[in-house]
Amino acid sequence: MSLYLRELESEAGEGRETTNSRQLGEALGLTDAQVRKDLACFGQFGQPGVGYRVKELVSELRKIFGTDGLWGAVIVGAGNIGRAVMSYHRLRRRGFDIAAVFDSDPALIGTEIDGHHVRPMHELTEISRARQARIGMLAVPADSAQNVADALIAAGVQGILNFAPVRLRVDDSVAIVNVDLSISLEQLAFKISLGHTAQVELPET
Ligand code: NAI
Repeated sequence: MSLYLRELESEAGEGRETTNSRQLGEALGLTDAQVRKDLACFGQFGQPGVGYRVKELVSELRKIFGTDGLWGAVIVGAGNIGRAVMSYHRLRRRGFDIAAVFDSDPALIGTEIDGHHVRPMHELTEISRARQARIGMLAVPADSAQNVADALIAAGVQGILNFAPVRLRVDDSVAIVNVDLSISLEQLAFKISLGHTAQVELPET
């Protein structure tokens, strides 16, 4: 569904008012039947003879994803990964606002990175709560990851995007998404070895 949303946003950007399952399918390498089936899982979109109204479908999908508003997110770890995330300015357009950045390194605390002031860890709870951050992005070394995850949860975040190569132990009420380039590369290597070289769905950055 993220790929559909991205394609529809790009069509909206080109000024296209309507689209249809064939056009969407061609853009995404799917059959039009698959497109209809996928979209039907989420509601009744589109009209016979008209197709899908692009802007309407974009806003419906954003509502479904919960990205029609702005999600506040904090980053812990202002190293390579943290900086890369901070420099990804399209995040805001996609509904995510970097509310604050934290690190434990005294040499980084107080510095500005890409417009973000790096704050000490003891301010995590107060600032995350004040800015209503519901997402924490965890970009610290593996050996600190669990402690930082606990601190994020204590600070009120409801979901963690975890870049550290560890399995976090958290309560069921907290959502975790792990990001691991090596897993994506293994998937890619596997697809290549299977001969599936035509369409490899890695997210565009
Ligand atoms: P880095 O060493 O450049 O940055 C880590 C930052 O975390 C440093 O600024 C450090 O001061 C800070 N930090 C350490 N302990 C902390 C704590 N307890 N509280 C707050 N801040 C703390 O590391 P890099 O390259 O940014 O990697 C970050 C994590 O991402 C690592 O766990 C690494 O293994 C992982 N990684 C994940 C990738 C992926 O595909 N998901 C790819 C590359 C790295």
